[in-house]
Amino acid sequence: MTALICGSMAYDTVMVFEGRFREHILADRIHVLNVSFLAPSMRRNFGGCAGNIAYNLRLLGGSGLIMATVGHDFAPYGRWLDERGIAQTHVRVLPEEFTAQAFITTDLDDNQITAFHPGAMNHSHLNQVSAASGVRIGIVAPDGRQGMLDHAAQFAAAGIPFIFDPGQGLPMFNGEELRALVSRAAWVAVNDYEGSLLTERTGWSLQDIAARVRALVVTRGSQGSCIYADGHQHDIPVARAARLADPTGCGDAYRAGLLYGLQRGLDWPTTGRVASLAGAIKIESHGTQQHDFDPPAFAARFRENFGAAL
Ligand SMILES: Nc1ncnc2c1ncn2[C@@H]1O[C@H](COP(=O)(O)OP(=O)(O)OP(=O)(O)O)[C@@H](O)[C@H]1O
Ligand SMILES: [Mg+2]
Repeated sequence: MTALICGSMAYDTVMVFEGRFREHILADRIHVLNVSFLAPSMRRNFGGCAGNIAYNLRLLGGSGLIMATVGHDFAPYGRWLDERGIAQTHVRVLPEEFTAQAFITTDLDDNQITAFHPGAMNHSHLNQVSAASGVRIGIVAPDGRQGMLDHAAQFAAAGIPFIFDPGQGLPMFNGEELRALVSRAAWVAVNDYEGSLLTERTGWSLQDIAARVRALVVTRGSQGSCIYADGHQHDIPVARAARLADPTGCGDAYRAGLLYGLQRGLDWPTTGRVASLAGAIKIESHGTQQHDFDPPAFAARFRENFGAAL
């Protein structure tokens, strides 16, 4: 029961400025802003929602195919996926473009200045769901705007149930578009903030949305998550994290857990706990694809946290 994972593939370049922006960005000079920050330490991580979800689903032992557009600079990321046995059949290289990338500069107060170049991601609509065979379930994660609209419509037309995961792409859509996307989806997954924005834009309450889909999932960071399904509200606890290194990518790890549970036909309380544990494991490492586990280790940790076998 392979999952088609439509979404972005991106490089995240993180540089640390060992000072404080506020000592260099002077309020009375902002009209002629021209600052340069020396950042001796730099990391370049493999990221993007589709890449992160596929990476976590692979660790869990689920089956996923990435559908994405990338640029001429994709080779190092491609090798990383190859080494982990993640297929690139539907990863389309656009030689004229860069792969989507974020340049993040942080300071010692944890402030961030980010520039994001979407590059090849803006052409994600060049890929079509119908090109992938053997797909039984899907997810529409943050990606190019037209790609998200098209892939949702294509999943619906093909009768393939999918998770609508608008994430940081949510502000690109108006109320009418969001109502159509939710109506096409089998499941909707959002964080707390995205949940509020989605209710505001659609004019539908969380209950209204839940009534239109098989399940609405709302994640609340360290407060856990809620799954509204079949008229029930399943409160999902967080799993214990050994350390809180970096929360970025917890949402994607959680979604991989949702796909895994759906592929295996697990009930919602169990699926939610798988997702929750995947999120907690992710938070223990920097980057979004630096953590590692195998299915037996995951099952052991699942039992430790929730007192039940997976
Ligand atoms: N501090 C934490 N301890 C344990 N689990 C956590 C923690 N933070 C997040 N998680 C798990 O990950 C899930 C998703 O996190 P969150 O709600 O922050 O997603 P998000 O805002 O979409 O994150 P991002 O988009 O940055 O990846 C939570 O519901 C929870 O299960
Ligand atoms: Mg998120």
